[in-house]
Amino acid sequence: MRNFYAAILACCLVAGGAITSSDAFAFPQDTHPAQDGPLQPKVASKQQPLRPHEPLVTAKHGMVVTAQHLATQVGLNILKQGGNAVDAAVAVGYALAVVHPCCGNIGGGGFMTLHLADGRNLFLDFREKAPLAATPDMMQNAAGKVVKGRSTKTYLGVGVPGSVMGFDDALKKYGTMSLAKVMAPAIKLAKDGYVLEPGDVRILDTSTDYFRQHPNVAAIFLDHGQPWKAGQVLKQPQLAHTLELIAQGGTRAFYDGPIAAAVVKASRVNHGLLSLKDFRDYTAQWEKPIECEYHGYTIISSPPPSSGGTTICETLQIIAPYPFAKWGFHSTQSAHYFIEAERRAFADRNTYLGDPAFVHNPIKQLLSAEHAAELRASILPDKATPSAQVKGSLGPYQATNTTHYSIVDDEGNAVAVTYTVNSYFGIKQIAGNTGFFLNNEMDDFTSKPGVPNQFGLVQGKANQIEPGKRSLSSMSPTIVLKDGKLAMVTGSPGGSTIISTTMESILNVVEYGMNVKQAIDAPRIHMQWYPDEVFAEPGSFTPTVRDALEAMGYKIRTVRQMGDIAAIVVNLKTGELESVNDPRYPAGSAAGY
Ligand code: GLY
Repeated sequence: MRNFYAAILACCLVAGGAITSSDAFAFPQDTHPAQDGPLQPKVASKQQPLRPHEPLVTAKHGMVVTAQHLATQVGLNILKQGGNAVDAAVAVGYALAVVHPCCGNIGGGGFMTLHLADGRNLFLDFREKAPLAATPDMMQNAAGKVVKGRSTKTYLGVGVPGSVMGFDDALKKYGTMSLAKVMAPAIKLAKDGYVLEPGDVRILDTSTDYFRQHPNVAAIFLDHGQPWKAGQVLKQPQLAHTLELIAQGGTRAFYDGPIAAAVVKASRVNHGLLSLKDFRDYTAQWEKPIECEYHGYTIISSPPPSSGGTTICETLQIIAPYPFAKWGFHSTQSAHYFIEAERRAFADRNTYLGDPAFVHNPIKQLLSAEHAAELRASILPDKATPSAQVKGSLGPYQATNTTHYSIVDDEGNAVAVTYTVNSYFGIKQIAGNTGFFLNNEMDDFTSKPGVPNQFGLVQGKANQIEPGKRSLSSMSPTIVLKDGKLAMVTGSPGGSTIISTTMESILNVVEYGMNVKQAIDAPRIHMQWYPDEVFAEPGSFTPTVRDALEAMGYKIRTVRQMGDIAAIVVNLKTGELESVNDPRYPAGSAAGY
């Protein structure tokens, strides 16, 4: 079991100040690194202090907040040059692929939620798709046993990347600048290099041994075989060339040109399934976002193939009648009802949701007032409900590293993007000279119904592998409106904890009246049905509340940190934009003008 939890932590509870799973993710009582999670550190712990006093940033015109300060500057410059939030979002997306290579990407996929100044709410799905040759049992051996590592560390784990198509679609429909212009800063950062900060190095350090396994990766992400150090300059000339090809040739260069050819060639050589047809057939899709009301606010978030918006809205609907503001932040009662609501919403999530192109998602029923009332009625006022007594089949626990950024421009357009290669650096392999990491999003699928994967997931049939299907995600880029006007843009990395982290950032602002800094600094909790435990950052509960919750039957597992909220809040009194970097991810920054 210890490996299971360590693997969950290594992958899902995204750390910022300290990224290695031996320190950032380990439980206080469990200080040994996991044996075989995909993010195993092979370096000594170098705990970087958090930056709890990071100042709140205010701005009148525009704001950008991302997990890497240079990408934030790229977005801010685009806004200052007259670009809108979509122009900036595409520029940041490419910049993060360079300066935040664990998670920012062109080899993965993601989601974009938009609230345009004219009032339209939009959602773009550029999630990776399973290759056309994929089969439900492709992660199993001839004996029907799931092969460890196949979906996370080999080319069989790679889904057809969507980021380049998604950014192109967004820019063409709602941007104002040329692709070449918004990509120029990323190309410069890749070509000229950038100075590594401790926060950057900490992330690279998680994967040193994996980088050593592949000479083409080691040539870039190690310095003559040794880990890069803070203060050194990391240059990525191959990635610069790939980005130049995209800037000149657009999506064709990536999906029907030399880049696709290089990835397909590497995939074939390494026993993967990707074909040129997979790349040529790839499409991003505009969908209707999930929307719900909570205490006078409208929540706009991700629909399937993400579970994020549905699970956030279902949880909020269950807790809506309770007086959380009166009970107070993480009081015994507010924690109890939040945890029980999450337990039930995650049970539904894991049972019913999947790619809508393949399975029916009963969103209307899940988000109905009747369903919320029924679930509410099943919550005992003074006791935890064992997860075994909550209906629904066991379902996927998302393993991930991911990144989220939020942007608001002068016109009032707001963009929330969460995108990912799944684990840090995906399969930790780069195809030939392309310079970018490939995702392992196939691991978000069911490897075999009923059999736990390396993270303890027992996955359902709705999420089984099928050709051209998108795996179920937890990514939740979310926008909150008050009376139709922008109030907040938010989101986070962190696997299934994304849902709780994003939701708590909203509750902290709209329910407890915190400012954005207080909302982000506040400790986080998470319950996802199975394991039947409450994950809690240190300081989540006072000793009295903790004792009370334990007496009610809760098993509380302390985890050092969860998620990395990149949020922008509109101060409803002054109209100003407010943001701050999440101190859990010290390389990031918020900046406005
Ligand atoms: N790969 C993590 C997620 O999509 O939820």
